[in-house]
Amino acid sequence: MFNIFPGLPGLSGDQGFSFVRTGPGESPGVKAIISDIHSNFEALSAVLEDISKQGVNEIYCLGDVIGYGPNPRECIDQIMNCKVVLLGNHDQGALFDPDGFNRAAEMAIMWTRQQLELPSETRGIQAKRWEFLAERPRSFRENGYLFVHGSARNPLNEYVFPEDIYNQRKMERIFTLVERYCFQGHTHVPGIFTEGLQFHTPDDLGGAYKLEGHKTLCNVGSVGQPRDLDPRACYVMLDDDTIRFRRVEYDIDTTVKKIYAIPELENFLGDRLREGR
Ligand SMILES: [Fe+2]
Repeated sequence: MFNIFPGLPGLSGDQGFSFVRTGPGESPGVKAIISDIHSNFEALSAVLEDISKQGVNEIYCLGDVIGYGPNPRECIDQIMNCKVVLLGNHDQGALFDPDGFNRAAEMAIMWTRQQLELPSETRGIQAKRWEFLAERPRSFRENGYLFVHGSARNPLNEYVFPEDIYNQRKMERIFTLVERYCFQGHTHVPGIFTEGLQFHTPDDLGGAYKLEGHKTLCNVGSVGQPRDLDPRACYVMLDDDTIRFRRVEYDIDTTVKKIYAIPELENFLGDRLREGR
């Protein structure tokens, strides 16, 4: 299994305080922000490898680790290593009731629950995963940066789609709740929303966007089920005030075959991965 932190330095308290040691090629302030893994282990592994290659060891995950895909246990076990992990609506659906889910999403969540209760696994690891999911916060704030799964107004469930720029009332309400910058997921559509009610795709921006003090929402896209017609896994790297959108190829065929082999996961959940929709 791919090691999330191969040989990277950790925190040290030998000076009486904690700090992150940096080596050649490493930047102390850089973090990777990922979201919507949806039990896609091949996509997650490829993204973690891409992050690791850049010498970055701080990863924030905006939720929906599970749901839709074939490897919920493996994905939870990897994501536990992240510095910050928020609760997504599918994570909550596994913990409680899948409220407002379509039939395919609901069937996938029921199957996911079974996977988390498999009798072949020790009670210790089962309990560890359930506790991890149950303890996830809905939002995280740090130095004027807000991190949520959905939106600043409704961190768990509200979608902010690109076309919402035409819904002035909605966007103004959301921007009011953002101190400066908000990172979010949930729609699986990456891009930047400005307070002037514009939406920019990563391609519009040439893949990067510099934060210059104006209120900004950044959708980091989806690792495990992109829906912007680019099937590659998506996440962002945040380096001081610059956001870089990253796309990573992964072994889609393997994930699709796994989905096809599980009757509770509808085939279109695999088909959509090939098209990024
Ligand atoms: Fe999602």
